[in-house]
Amino acid sequence: MLNNAGSKPDAMTRAANVRIPDAASLADAARVLTDGGLIAFPTETVYGLGADATNARAVASIFATKGRPSFNPLIVHVSDAAQARSLGQFSPSADRLAEAFWPGPLTIVVNRHPQSPIADLVSAGLPTLALRVPAHPIAHALLQAVGRPIAAPSANRSGHVSATHAAHVAADLGDRVAMILDGGATPLGLESTIVDATGDEIVVLRPGAISTAALEAVIGRRIARAKSNPTAPASPGQLESHYATAAPLRLDATHVEPGEALLAFGNNVPQHSGAQFNLSSTGDLIEAAANLFAALRALDTPQIMAIAVMPIPQHGLGEAINDRLRRAAAPRKT
Ligand code: TXA
Ligand code: MG
Repeated sequence: MLNNAGSKPDAMTRAANVRIPDAASLADAARVLTDGGLIAFPTETVYGLGADATNARAVASIFATKGRPSFNPLIVHVSDAAQARSLGQFSPSADRLAEAFWPGPLTIVVNRHPQSPIADLVSAGLPTLALRVPAHPIAHALLQAVGRPIAAPSANRSGHVSATHAAHVAADLGDRVAMILDGGATPLGLESTIVDATGDEIVVLRPGAISTAALEAVIGRRIARAKSNPTAPASPGQLESHYATAAPLRLDATHVEPGEALLAFGNNVPQHSGAQFNLSSTGDLIEAAANLFAALRALDTPQIMAIAVMPIPQHGLGEAINDRLRRAAAPRKT
């Protein structure tokens, strides 16, 4: 299956999961994604670590693979603007930016359509989606082959710099990823520019491969830079607009108070007749991460006083789950 027939002699030094992109490897990669696996692939900016964006469990495994201690929202890669429009709501300015810069290194944050099939975990429970149509031919071919949106952060281990060569991806992630499509060096080597186009004004959330001046030339007026850069790598996961529940959370609960809903984990669940959601009755942290945001949304109704949250182990994805729950449980800034 994973032979490198047709590749250059330096294939001898490649890890088994590094493949030359051709029709066969792209078809294999599409199958891996459809089956819920992870593929590292080149874009014009940096390599991405991709999963089927509609498969919450596959998306959860991105965080496990990167060793990310928190759930940063991810960029959703699509094959064209029409697919992007089927997932999110485009304002006139968002439309103009998409027309001018797609395919290309611009990520546009828009409100998600209520019926969008994208997993909640992709946007860390936010009502928005960060969308991008990559220009790289291999990224494009992969998106066409799989026919689904691909959620992908940069293909590096958490805390490391973004990978711009397949060898960097292999060094960082090794065989934790099913396949690395080797497209050589990524042409730009700098991440995409991210703009928030959900409001009346376009705001640059992350400066990147497309300059603010180029954006302003298309929009026809000055564009603001986010005051405190909410996506700065110095504070991963500290995005201020993370989904917060209206009901307070009570962590490490071993019993349920009257009026509380229960967010359970594992099979040793306290007696409770009201609303409850078990993140994973088998104690599987990847399944729990995949369910987290949908569970919070489901339990967070006006009828309840609080959400009692059972203890979640602090290993593997438990670290990111607990980080998210602790921030949701912290006193609110109003
Ligand atoms: O060039 C790139 O953008 C690369 C390639 C692979 O496409 N991807 C990349 O992904 O740099 P990542 O995960 O390293 O950075 C994604 C950034 C994060 O800072 C995240 O906070 C922001 O996108 N982001 C994602 N969804 C968002 C949303 N709904 N609202 C605001 N920011 C969002
Ligand atoms: Mg990154």
